[in-house]
Amino acid sequence: MSPREQLGPADLVCVPMTAEDWPQVQAIYRAGIDTGHATFESAPPTWEAFDASRSTGHRLVALQGGGPRDGAVLGWAAVSPVSTCEVYAGVVEHSVYVAPHARGRGIGRLLLDELIASTEAAGIWTIQSSVFPENTTSLAIHQRAGFRTVGVRERMARMTYGPVAGQWRDTVLIERRTTIL
Ligand SMILES: CC(C)(COP(=O)(O)OP(=O)(O)OC[C@H]1O[C@@H](n2cnc3c(N)ncnc32)[C@H](O)[C@@H]1OP(=O)(O)O)[C@@H](O)C(=O)NCCC(=O)NCCS
Repeated sequence: MSPREQLGPADLVCVPMTAEDWPQVQAIYRAGIDTGHATFESAPPTWEAFDASRSTGHRLVALQGGGPRDGAVLGWAAVSPVSTCEVYAGVVEHSVYVAPHARGRGIGRLLLDELIASTEAAGIWTIQSSVFPENTTSLAIHQRAGFRTVGVRERMARMTYGPVAGQWRDTVLIERRTTIL
């Protein structure tokens, strides 16, 4: 049973993110950062910075509610181009974050599936991300969505916040190469 079937189509909808969603998206982003295992970033960006860096066609929010735009934002996903070089136009880096109270209900997986569909439809062939090895939930949902581990990058960067501030951390480079292009 897919995550969408599990929740029921009336319970959950994935729609394009709008500027009005930003306060909720930013709060979910901050809660993810607070886990200490989502990103090296110590704070979410401003809307202006997010808007400038994320591809407009592939920013999604998962909403709970009876219909589109009725409910609170439960999670979000977005991509950024990895390069301005034309040959890499089909390669993007993504993020996926789910609100703490909504985790473990299939929303992360749903957002990934919708992001894959959206990017593939636009001719994007590779989605990649860097995940901390400790983020086993993220690694698990990505593996199930067809991502593979490219490799572990050792002592990639230093944490600047939280209980392990100053510590060098490894990241796992993962990617999903579409088979339809
Ligand atoms: C990572 C995150 C997006 C996952 O979203 P989610 O909605 O909780 O995930 P889902 O409910 O779709 O899937 C969880 C799955 O992982 C599985 N899982 C959880 N922990 C696991 C573990 N340690 N090992 C293996 N599988 C695990 C669950 O069993 C579930 O699988 P199932 O649906 O087959 O039962 C969410 O936890 C989150 O927002 N974390 C903070 C931000 C973050 O880390 N983002 C990713 C940055 S790389």
